[in-house]
Formats: sequence, C-alpha cells, structure tokens
Amino acid sequence: MTTPLPFAVRMLGITKRFPGVVALDDVTLEVRRGEVHAICGENGAGKSTLMKILSGVYQPDCGILEVDGSAASFTGTRDAERSGIAIIHQELALVEDLPVAANVFLGRERRGLLGLVDDRSMEDECERLFSLLECSVSPRDRTGSLRVGDQQLVEIAKALSLEASIVVMDEPTSALTEAESVRLERTIQRLVSQGTTILYISHKMDEVFRLADRITVLRDGRHVKTVDTSATSPREVTGWMVGRDIAGHGFHQERPRGAKILEVRQLTLPWPEHPRGYRLKDISFDLHAGEILGVAGLMGAGRTELLEVLFGAGEDTWTGTVSLYGKSVRFDHPSEACRARIAMVSEDRKRLGLFPDLDVAGNVSLCALHEALRNGLLSRAAEEDLAAGPVRDTGVKTPGLHAAITGLSGGNQQKCIIGRWLLTKPEVLLLDDPTRGIDVGAKAELYTLIDRLCRQGLGVILTSSELPELLTLADRIIVLAEGRLTAELPRSGATEARIMEAATAG
Ligand SMILES: Nc1ncnc2c1ncn2[C@@H]1O[C@H](COP(=O)(O)OP(=O)(O)OP(=O)(O)O)[C@@H](O)[C@H]1O
Ligand SMILES: [Mg+2]
Repeated sequence: MTTPLPFAVRMLGITKRFPGVVALDDVTLEVRRGEVHAICGENGAGKSTLMKILSGVYQPDCGILEVDGSAASFTGTRDAERSGIAIIHQELALVEDLPVAANVFLGRERRGLLGLVDDRSMEDECERLFSLLECSVSPRDRTGSLRVGDQQLVEIAKALSLEASIVVMDEPTSALTEAESVRLERTIQRLVSQGTTILYISHKMDEVFRLADRITVLRDGRHVKTVDTSATSPREVTGWMVGRDIAGHGFHQERPRGAKILEVRQLTLPWPEHPRGYRLKDISFDLHAGEILGVAGLMGAGRTELLEVLFGAGEDTWTGTVSLYGKSVRFDHPSEACRARIAMVSEDRKRLGLFPDLDVAGNVSLCALHEALRNGLLSRAAEEDLAAGPVRDTGVKTPGLHAAITGLSGGNQQKCIIGRWLLTKPEVLLLDDPTRGIDVGAKAELYTLIDRLCRQGLGVILTSSELPELLTLADRIIVLAEGRLTAELPRSGATEARIMEAATAG
C-alpha cells in the first residue's frame, strides 16, 4: 500500500453567495501535492469563484481553507502569493499602457542600487520566461498592442515569475492556438516535475485528459465528483457536468447555399513597420447566404485583421475591393457596418465587447436601442423586452436582466455578446473565436442556433482556435498563413492534417 501524498490544498465546506446567486454551496476540494488537478463544470458552475477564494481574491462566507496542512485565510492576492499560490485569471487583468515586463512585475518591481527600478533585470527575467514558453513577445512591447493570445502568455509568465508552489490556471489556453497550448502543456509538465501543484480549469476535454491526474466536477455551485482521470472518460465527465447526455455535434446536414452576399478581391492590408510589409496580402473569397465560411490559421496569420477590415474596425489603409450584394463598400467605423447589417463578435470581449457599467439587459440591447425608444425616450421595459429573447436563446445563466454584467461567469458574458449581435438581425455575422470559454453543452446549443440562422439566410464567417469546431460548423474553409490565403477547402476535403499543412505553408 502506498501512503497518499500530503495535501497541498484542502478547501472544506466552502460556501460563497453573491446577490441573487449561491456561487458555491458547501464545496470540498482536496488537492494532493504535485498533482495536476482539473476542475470541470458548465459556465457558471463556480470554478472561477472557488479558485478566486483559494488565491485570496474573495473570502468565503463559510468553510475552511488549508494550505500545506495549516489553516489559511487570505485577505488579498498578495497574501496568497506569500503562501506560494499564484493564479492566472480567466479574464486578463493587465495594464494595457505598460510594457510587458512592467506587467509581469507589477507591484513587485525589481530595484537595484539606490532603489531605482531595475528595468534591465526585469526584462532579462521576462526574456527567460518567454523563451521557456517559446513565445516571441518582447518585454518592451506595449501590452495593449498584443493580441489576446499573447496577452494570455504574459499572464502565464507573470504567474511563473512568482515561482509559486501552487499555480491556478483558469482557462489558460482559451485564447491560445493549438501549437501554443502544446507549449504550455510542456511548461506544465516541467513545473510538475519540479514539484509544483497545478489546478487547471478548462472546457477542452482532450487537454484535461492529457494533463490531469484527477478531475473534480462542479455543477451549479455543488461538488459532484472527484475521480482519477485514468478511471473515467470525457463522455462520463461531461455527463456529470451537465447532468444529462449531450447530443454529439453530428447535426450538420447540407444547407442550401443562397445568393452571393459578399465578394472580397485582392484585399491587402499594409504593415509598414514589419519586415514582411503586410498583415494581409491579396486575399480573395466569396460568401453566400446560408453558408458558414471557416477561416483557419495560426495566431498572427491575419484572421482577426481580416474580420476587422470587413467590419470597419481595423486600420483603414487596406486596398482591394469588398462588395456587399454587388456594391463596393468601405466601412470606416463599425457603426457603418452595422447599418449594412454586418455584425461581429470579437475575440476580445473585454476590450471590444463588454460595458462593465451596464447591466445584462443594457449590454445585450446596446446595438438595437433605437427599437427601445418610446416617444424619443429610452424605455427600460422595452429594453428588457429586447434583451429577454437573446438571453433565453443563447442560454445565459444570470440572476436576472438587472444583474451586473461583471458578476456573470466568463462564458455567460460571452453568450451576452453573441446575443447582442443576434438582436441586430445581421445578414453577415463575423464570429472571431466565438466559443472561447463556453462550455460543451452551451457550445452544442450555440452551434444549433447558428445553423438555424444560416438556414434562414444568414452568412457567417467564423474563425476558431479549435480546428474541430471549424470542421463541425464550416461549409468551406479558407486557410491563412502569414497574411496570405494558402488553401480553400470544401467541407468534404477538409481534414485537420490538410488545414495544418496549409496553415504552416510558406
Ligand atoms: N463578483 C460576482 N458578483 C456576482 N455574481 C458572481 C460574481 N462572481 C461570480 N458570480 C456568480 O457566481 C456563479 C459562478 O460563477 P463562476 O465565475 O465561478 O463560474 P465558472 O464556473 O467559472 O464559469 P465559466 O466557465 O463561465 O467561467 C455564476 O452564477 C456567477 O454569475
Ligand atoms: Mg470561470
């Protein structure tokens, strides 16, 4: 008989209430030293809240916390860091105007002689961490100029720089490409071999099953199960998460392809400060009504830039032509694109999507507010009527339409943004990694919703960091590699291998 490893963390009978919700109800979690312990559950199940209690962001209403065998109670994250606990937050919390190195060492700047901030030493340490993560970000880059995926890597570097013995990762790969996720997995394995304990939250089952020694499942704020990964299956775990069997994604049936909506020709977006000279080069494709066009590519391939040009949200230095229903268009601002019935769900919900001062109804009805005007005045009742439909259709879990948007779980915030755009009744919907952070059950529902809208004539352009999602949804896939279109694959000819080959071409 082997003696069980001592526990790095014990959380006993933890309860946490927020106005209108019991986020955690008498939850017990025991984490062994040196294990990778995954926490799974639907959006709003309480995963982030539990981890925020462990890392000192929140205090529990009742329950006991033990770290390395001693009772602990943290009044803030710094407090938890002193006990060797670091957290990588789901919602990135970086100061955009600071350089990357300053963010990594925020609040614990290294100082040299005379107490001056030692930029050099912090930059060197960042270089070292980034090379561990095999990422090419420079410590001197302005954080706000980085794409979400790179920002996520900065958060990860920040947690690593603390050299914590317990690292909490709350959906660390949600904005990473597959290749970057694989690198993170290598980093995790290295940390584990050095004795670090990892708590890992992810909606990606393949990742959980590759990494975790044990899995804990939460549902509606309650502990459902803790099991050895080797003794269960992804299907069983999802079953515990949702409390029902979810249908596979095999719903895709041929959709009738309608008239041509969008025609893009020779689209080029210059990038003068880069040796390559362009972000996008000579991109041409069509989009038809009723069609989902997938855009695949590695991070930095130009997927987001392409969608932003079409939506009038990017730099306006592009050349080439974009025609909507046969008429050449050029949008200088997203509001013009909206008027032309184009909508975009952005990959970065914090920067481009959420309005923290507005409640759920306000956030969802935002782009259709003209419909809530009564005699020229904004009617709150009409605003709520507007928001109620999409909140229901996308399955947002919220205590009510009045609830603060910032109180919703990450996945539910994302559903609100998708709902907002559906309210504008778009004819072209641009989805930039729309299911980032959305749980498996909600994903399947969202896929069904998108499929239904396409059958009513909507045209969709979709990017995703998850290839299976593109292969499930798209009728046709174009592949970008370093700003160029390297392949156009019909649904029948698209496989992960062929997409990856085209994505790494050149
Ligand atoms: N600061 C807060 N104020 C009010 N309610 C909150 C707050 N934080 C969390 N909640 C609520 O607590 C519940 C659990 O949220 P939590 O963020 O822990 O979910 P989660 O499992 O991390 O979900 P996701 O997969 O979407 O990230 C949700 O109903 C959420 O709305
Ligand atoms: Mg969460």
